[in-house]
Amino acid sequence: MHEITMETIIALCKRRGFVFPGSEIYGGLQGFYDYGPLGVEMKNNLKGLWWSEMTKKHDHIVGIDGAIITNPKVWEASGHVTSFADPLIECKQCHHRFKADDVPGITSCPDCGGVMTEPRMFNTLVSTEIGVIEGETTHTYLRGEACQTIYLNYKNVLDSTHLKVPFGICQIGKAFRNEVTPGNFLFRQREFEQWDLQWFCHPSQMEQWFSYWKDERMNWYKTIFTHPEHLRFYEHEKLAHYAKKAFDIEYTASPVGKEMEGIHWRGDWDLSRHSKYSGENLTYTDPETQETFIPQIIETSGGVDRTFLFLLLDAYTEEGDRIVLKLNPKISPYKIAVFPLLRNKPELVTKAQEIYRGLRNELAVAWDDRGNIGKRYYSQDEIGTPYCVTIDFQTLEDKTVTIRNRDTMRQERISEHAILTYLKDHHVY
Ligand code: GAP
Repeated sequence: MHEITMETIIALCKRRGFVFPGSEIYGGLQGFYDYGPLGVEMKNNLKGLWWSEMTKKHDHIVGIDGAIITNPKVWEASGHVTSFADPLIECKQCHHRFKADDVPGITSCPDCGGVMTEPRMFNTLVSTEIGVIEGETTHTYLRGEACQTIYLNYKNVLDSTHLKVPFGICQIGKAFRNEVTPGNFLFRQREFEQWDLQWFCHPSQMEQWFSYWKDERMNWYKTIFTHPEHLRFYEHEKLAHYAKKAFDIEYTASPVGKEMEGIHWRGDWDLSRHSKYSGENLTYTDPETQETFIPQIIETSGGVDRTFLFLLLDAYTEEGDRIVLKLNPKISPYKIAVFPLLRNKPELVTKAQEIYRGLRNELAVAWDDRGNIGKRYYSQDEIGTPYCVTIDFQTLEDKTVTIRNRDTMRQERISEHAILTYLKDHHVY
């Protein structure tokens, strides 16, 4: 079992450019973070894997990229204006605040033992104003969950494609919540990213598809984690306003919260409500049986940032004085690093640059000619680069390079022309 603290991961993220606190030079803003040079590469790799899993592996799923701001009626129809609220409790002595759901049943403060207030409900939708002329502005919301734009476009997608029920629409996009207790780094932010699949099917097929998607999603997460044994299901007893049944996929080795993705039985709640509030007919007529019905929805809704955080926690390893991120190579920011053995030997630097430029056309490559080779290896280990290639005097003679494995630290000599094949064979890309 890992015993890694959040402080260790936060420090690594800052030191190596994965994640920075938002608006840091102004003292920050609670619940907002910026991804740095390595973080954005890793996050893009992660989103790319999810996207191709959804759209390439499944014939009946297409993607959209919806707007963050919608007509405010969307949030009345969805139930968020009335029901999207979190209970806040506060210690009367030290004034520390907690989301009541995080500390069920407590009467005295976990921090100082003081008496707690009764829970007060706060709506967590983030409001905004559209328009420039005072008195003529429209009050609306930044989307509280990304999935609503999928429901709004369900008819457009059906009308513009050859899809028939059952089918899915997926999306990766930002969501915003005025969380009552933002904190724990990327775990609970006010601006975050979700990856959602909304699966539309006949009401009689809900059980079968629910169990299919539950398994599919868990199996996918298992392929990207270093320690898949740290993943498990948690079945919800207390359900969101739209859900009839809900399971979370949890990362159990997290030192903070564990929830990573929700698999929700949303039924006909969303399409029925949008139909009622918009006046549009959102029923579907089966072209073969002519049966008309409202498709029911199974949702898989995961947090991109939480997955990112859990992957770092899961991959972080200390071996003596070596820190190594044992990330799945497909997620690592760089796939390979290229070094000239000595930076003051122009013939080595020229050859290394030639190899570096050749590889750069195909994948993300790091270049390093600082310090000694040992330090460069350690520096790449800490950011999860799965392989390092060193160009030495033998390379100039026989066109072979040393390739070194991050996890085993074993080195092999291979032809400089075989590097890409080697990386492919080792599932790096
Ligand atoms: N459309 C359903 C929905 O939004 P949710 O369980 O509220 O369901 C789905 O959110 C996922 O989004 C969560 O499992 C979590 O990974 C992520 N998420 C939710 N709130 C978050 C926050 N404040 N910061 C980071 N990620 C969050």
